[in-house]
Amino acid sequence: MASEVRYRKDLFKGTAEYYDRFRPPYPPALLDDLRSRVPLGGTARLLDLACGTGQITFALVADVGEVWAVDQEAESVRFGNAKANRLGVTNIHWLAASAEHVPLDGVFDLIAIGNAFHRLDRDAVTRRLVPHLARGGAVALLWGGTPWRGERRWQRALSDCLERWEREVGALDRVPPGWEQAMDEDPHEQVLRRAGLAYEGSFGFSVVERWSIESLIGFVYSTSFLNRAALGDGADAFERDLRGQLLACRPDGIFEQQLTFAYELARRPD
Ligand SMILES: C[S@@+](CC[C@H](N)C(=O)[O-])C[C@H]1O[C@@H](n2cnc3c(N)ncnc32)[C@H](O)[C@@H]1O
Repeated sequence: MASEVRYRKDLFKGTAEYYDRFRPPYPPALLDDLRSRVPLGGTARLLDLACGTGQITFALVADVGEVWAVDQEAESVRFGNAKANRLGVTNIHWLAASAEHVPLDGVFDLIAIGNAFHRLDRDAVTRRLVPHLARGGAVALLWGGTPWRGERRWQRALSDCLERWEREVGALDRVPPGWEQAMDEDPHEQVLRRAGLAYEGSFGFSVVERWSIESLIGFVYSTSFLNRAALGDGADAFERDLRGQLLACRPDGIFEQQLTFAYELARRPD
């Protein structure tokens, strides 16, 4: 059984606008690949669990009859709902609830969890989901890369600066210690298989991302661990520090990287 790590439930407070604006979207090639493996269509139902402001929901809403978009942080759900109203999209049901306790109705052709499975009680959630998968239906775990993972000089400067400020503002406890080790010891694949799903693989995609200082700061403010709530009064000083560190690496202010995305797919066995 998984020895799960536990996260606070309010870590994304104040991030919705930044998340919506500065998180690079899932690449079209990834979404097309997912569509090719999981047949959707006008009567299909999508459950987007831990939906945030709707990165998967908005990407796939035109492919299905309806979406249930669920997140435990009401602020993100309100943001997604307001965006849907602005865009005139009417087939999304937004729910503020935890993945562990949300009441689920009927079956879904696709259950997607983006950048969040590691935050959930994975065994409990997966066991709950299995009876809500339609025949041939699948669970997809989507993952997106982060700008500070990599060997470029600006990436190391960014990573060092983030770590220094996490320490400076006392935010180190926002990431539970040992979470990566816990995931390594009990990989998502194992959790999905344990619930009786047929694991079909992990499919990777990468895009060239060109960041500016503004978009890198925006990305940081979309995170759970060093957003504006975590930085408090330190936000302006953090921005000045980061700007200086980054420009020392790249005076042109352009920060390029190969950003990797992936999704893992597991299907209801029939
Ligand atoms: C990094 S964001 C991912 C947003 C979006 N799904 C994406 O693909 O980018 C993680 C989200 O998981 C949500 N979350 C974390 N634990 C949760 C839980 N137990 N139940 C529901 N939502 C949860 C957070 O509130 C946050 O919005």
